Amino acid sequence: MSRTYNIAVIPGDGTGPEVVAEGIKILNTASAKFGFKLEFRKFDFGGERYLRTGETLPDSAIDEFRKFDAMFLGAIGHPDVKPGILETGILLKIRFALDQYINLRPVKLYPNVETPLKDKGPEHIDFVVIRENTGGIYTGHGGATRAGTTEEIATQLMVYDRRTVDRCLKYAFELKKKRNTKDPKYAAKPITLIHKRNVLTHCGDLWYRAFEEMGSKQYPELKRDYNHVDAANMWLVKNPEWFDVAVTENLFGDIITDLGAMIQGGLGVASGGNINPAGVSMFEPMGGSAPKYAGRNVINPMAAIGAAMMMLDALGETEASQAIETAMIAVMRKMKSQAAGKMGYTTTEIGDLVAGLV
Ligand code: IPM
Ligand code: MN
Repeated sequence: MSRTYNIAVIPGDGTGPEVVAEGIKILNTASAKFGFKLEFRKFDFGGERYLRTGETLPDSAIDEFRKFDAMFLGAIGHPDVKPGILETGILLKIRFALDQYINLRPVKLYPNVETPLKDKGPEHIDFVVIRENTGGIYTGHGGATRAGTTEEIATQLMVYDRRTVDRCLKYAFELKKKRNTKDPKYAAKPITLIHKRNVLTHCGDLWYRAFEEMGSKQYPELKRDYNHVDAANMWLVKNPEWFDVAVTENLFGDIITDLGAMIQGGLGVASGGNINPAGVSMFEPMGGSAPKYAGRNVINPMAAIGAAMMMLDALGETEASQAIETAMIAVMRKMKSQAAGKMGYTTTEIGDLVAGLV
């Protein structure tokens, strides 16, 4: 019997639908070639719908999403919607409700892709950030009192419990183990915990002790390293080749993965996964809705194609996933740039070229 996967698709706003269309084009090509079936169902959540109906994402949608094998997201964001509404109402709601506790962000510089880092090439930039995706400051603990007065107080707490830390570390150590067996160049590098334990003496200490304990007891063969997040920012720019698997808490991960996106060639090529290893995971290009490029067929769909590749890998379609990566690399070699409007090709042409090589 052939393998069938049901995919929930949220094209979203701005250029989201355009890049998602190319991702689906590649997924359909891969499924025909590698003998599995994909069923897509589209959902219209996003800024447009919110402006029309006042609804971000109803609870019933979460129950619907649970029935799918994976989710594919374009971009959420609208210039006419106040910041925070769509982010918390849609993206964060999905992450929390579906317990997508890993934010997986490969930072890999492909050949012929430009990096702003002088004298660095693909041999230097090839690592993965595991960002904890459901805890920390993002939990919304805290509040404001005396709002609007000169005595206003606001708090937003970094909240972590041992279970949340441990399950994230477990995923990171397992990924490191897998990468080490793939290539000796990865095995030579450590798994790096990134935090700020010199100042965040409670949360940082919890993460550090959990990391040391799990590492020494369950993964003694893996080299371990620790960086403060401010120093990690420096090293990611100066010596990105030091990193292989970096694991960190939610907000620090949010910040360093944007730095990662820039050094791997920009938002046109950065993809990510919101992963629940035992549930429904959601894959997305890291770029926003880019309203000024919407509808012009100039946005780079590579990040969405990369998200599709990650999705197939997570679904266990490894061969198809690898074929997509090989095709992406071949097309990137021909592109003039990875920046919107400067690629030497249109959005749909890039999709066609990749599809032709899968
Ligand atoms: C990301 C984004 C989100 C985050 C926003 C849109 C809520 O920046 O996926 O990195 O902060 O996690
Ligand atoms: Mn971010």
